[in-house]
Amino acid sequence: MTDERTDDMTRFVAELEAGGVLSDAAWREAFTKVPRHVFLPAFFTPLPDGRWQAMDQSHPDYWRLVYADTTLTTQLDATIHPDPSVGPVAGAGTSSSTQPGLMAAMLDALRVTGGERVLEIGTGTGYNAALLAHRLNAQNVTSVEVDDRVADAARQRLVVAGYHPSVITGDGEQGWRPGAPYDRLVATVSVPAVPRAWLAQVRDGGMIVASLWRDLGGAPLVRLEVDGDTAQGFFLPQPGGFMPVRSANRATAALSAATRQIGISRTATVPSGVLHDDDAGLWLALQVPEVTWLGFTPDGGTDQVWLFAPDGSWAMVEDATVRVEQYGPRNLWDEVEAAYDRWDATGQPCRDRLGLTVTGTGEHRFWLDFPDATQWVDVPGRR
Ligand SMILES: C[S@@+](CC[C@H](N)C(=O)[O-])C[C@H]1O[C@@H](n2cnc3c(N)ncnc32)[C@H](O)[C@@H]1O
Repeated sequence: MTDERTDDMTRFVAELEAGGVLSDAAWREAFTKVPRHVFLPAFFTPLPDGRWQAMDQSHPDYWRLVYADTTLTTQLDATIHPDPSVGPVAGAGTSSSTQPGLMAAMLDALRVTGGERVLEIGTGTGYNAALLAHRLNAQNVTSVEVDDRVADAARQRLVVAGYHPSVITGDGEQGWRPGAPYDRLVATVSVPAVPRAWLAQVRDGGMIVASLWRDLGGAPLVRLEVDGDTAQGFFLPQPGGFMPVRSANRATAALSAATRQIGISRTATVPSGVLHDDDAGLWLALQVPEVTWLGFTPDGGTDQVWLFAPDGSWAMVEDATVRVEQYGPRNLWDEVEAAYDRWDATGQPCRDRLGLTVTGTGEHRFWLDFPDATQWVDVPGRR
């Protein structure tokens, strides 16, 4: 590697360290040695109009972006791959290289000491698998990717970088039974519920660090310790908004359809900003199911937040006029305000005071501070 690249990597690791996420010397060493650019020959950068432009090493910003604490998108709509010779393209991200600071926090949360056997779900570019292989030896690392083209590219780039973990093409929600039992499982893709297969494939006392998918957001990252057919633990202090597994049934509804109906208007008691709050946002996302939202500013109007549910319910919140308008079987902003009031009455707990127990029947029990203090339960299949 040239001196210039070594300098880029040294600056990158110093930036991560300054962000407080690389306190472990062994992970620091891995980030210093594993070249991220090998896993990112090209990627998309977002444009102000919502579309994407692909760039590769010929672009003057390439090296600065590859060695920055930034998520880099590498696939859109499960079919579009970065090609800098093509102009701007539209689409939703379906594969990426995760923000390195977030990867570092999740790797740290795995609490490995060396030699643990790890199953990663969501290989993506293969960069995280390479970091795991560097730290724990390649024979201890298995990574599962659902998209065969993405998995093939990751395999090739891992070889170029000098790492040889097992990369399996398959559905990560099933884990990878032939390699079980694992000491650790880390998922860099969000699941609506922690799959039973993961609990079965991680040994007693082993740990799972995973991202839960909630339509309202909240970016839930949780670390669970496995005990027989159950697992339990606290949410991490860091938010981690990973894309959902491809099977996830995301609640969607059309803004244009909603605006044709007239809802019931009232004064809002809670502003829309609660959805962005790291602590309140997680509580709300876990308690208000199947509601997506988006920001919208009508021509000549003020900022609005629109919420939608699959049954056609919607709500529109306008902070400038302190107004909410709602329509449909569910009063969505009433639900958000009621959940917010519970969070407030409970003393506004921060996100890492919340915990999760996954029971042998797959029930998800959410609690505050103590597992016995169950606050609410998700039944499998309800989402
Ligand atoms: C955020 S990327 C992973 C980033 C990756 N760890 C890295 O270092 O580049 C999420 C990946 O999960 C994959 N994915 C989605 N659903 C999946 C599933 N059911 N099983 C396995 N992988 C899945 C996507 O194709 C995507 O490549």
